[in-house]
Amino acid sequence: VTNRTFTMIKPDAVAEGHTGAIINMIEEAGFRIVAIKKVQLTSERAGQFYAVHRERPFYNDLCAYMSSGPIVPMILEKENAVADFRTLIGATNPAQAAEGTIRKLYAKSIEANAIHGSDSDENAKIEGDFFFAGVEQY
Ligand code: CMP
Repeated sequence: VTNRTFTMIKPDAVAEGHTGAIINMIEEAGFRIVAIKKVQLTSERAGQFYAVHRERPFYNDLCAYMSSGPIVPMILEKENAVADFRTLIGATNPAQAAEGTIRKLYAKSIEANAIHGSDSDENAKIEGDFFFAGVEQY
């Protein structure tokens, strides 16, 4: 079944000039870009996006990091999009990410891990709608 996932290229990867290479990997893997832009979050808005993590010890650092520079959010479409995209990006901790994954290639640390991928169809919809209006999703 064709469905959608949400991703964002994180501040470290954007700042280091990896946006194009990462988008190329995503398209080469068969994902269609439904929506895309470049934005910078405030710390407050990063906190809203990651509200599920607000009790975690890394939450404040995560909000500071995610608002430290521009990010590139995207909605992507493919068969089995959520699971296949998580395979493409690799483990959260780049030390555990498989060879050839986006995080193995571009992540700096467990926090500055280059890219996000939704963990469920439900969260993909919520996260995509956080960044994009309906008229931007085609
Ligand atoms: P992501 O999976 O996109 O969403 C939660 C983010 O929190 C994660 O990527 C990392 O950027 C960050 N994160 C997760 N675990 C840790 C951790 N143990 N220490 C610091 N940051 C983390």
